[in-house]
Amino acid sequence: MEAEVERTRLLRVVRGQLESELFLGGKWLPISGEAGGEVLRVKKDGKSKQRQEALAEIAERVRNCCGCGLHKMRTKSVVGEGSADARLVFVGEAPGADEDASGRPFVGRAGKLLTSIIEAMGFKREEVFIGNILKCRPPGNRNPQMDEIDSCRGFLYEQLEVIEPEVIVALGAYAAQTLLESNLPIGELRGKVHEFCATPMGKPIKFVATYHPAYLLRNYTPDARGRVWQDMQKVLGLLGLEVPRKK
Ligand code: URA
Repeated sequence: MEAEVERTRLLRVVRGQLESELFLGGKWLPISGEAGGEVLRVKKDGKSKQRQEALAEIAERVRNCCGCGLHKMRTKSVVGEGSADARLVFVGEAPGADEDASGRPFVGRAGKLLTSIIEAMGFKREEVFIGNILKCRPPGNRNPQMDEIDSCRGFLYEQLEVIEPEVIVALGAYAAQTLLESNLPIGELRGKVHEFCATPMGKPIKFVATYHPAYLLRNYTPDARGRVWQDMQKVLGLLGLEVPRKK
């Protein structure tokens, strides 16, 4: 009996290790998508057009925004992109050089890793929404300043109010701390499910914090990858989606 329990435990440990080792590099067959169809990955409630129009209106204001000093240095503002009907939204910190040049979020090295994570979860990148706390690049990728966060965060809140996702994933300490209004380190904010309200009377949205993909690139260890994968499995559970199987 004891041997059986130990065997089961070992199998679980090895399986978890293999999954987290493989999820960023291998080829995944997203069974949740195939089995459940698109309806499970984006909302189908007939409000798509309304949401797209509302997001376009916010985007226009972001493009013309001169709310803080960052507008003077930007090549392009980075409004955010993805499905207006997303059930899942990822929020990063601020655009980097590649994003500033292209006007699109998460397109550099960290962005490629984020796309792998999204696909490992069984989503197409365009089925989720990807945004940032700041819409313009801080010079030299310095940390966002409080006045910049305060002047910009309202756009993201508006986007979240329009999209009404079921789960928000904050990527890294800045996004997590800003949205949760917390000073706790990311290591303490991750690993649990929080709630976020875009407006004081708004419906609470489930909220999971994880490491920023840029951090993961700098610390590409089985342990760090395993933790991110654990967080993403939690997110899939919150959405009622299965964890995709490795092909
Ligand atoms: N890092 C971020 O936080 N956001 C981006 O869009 C790109 C890199």
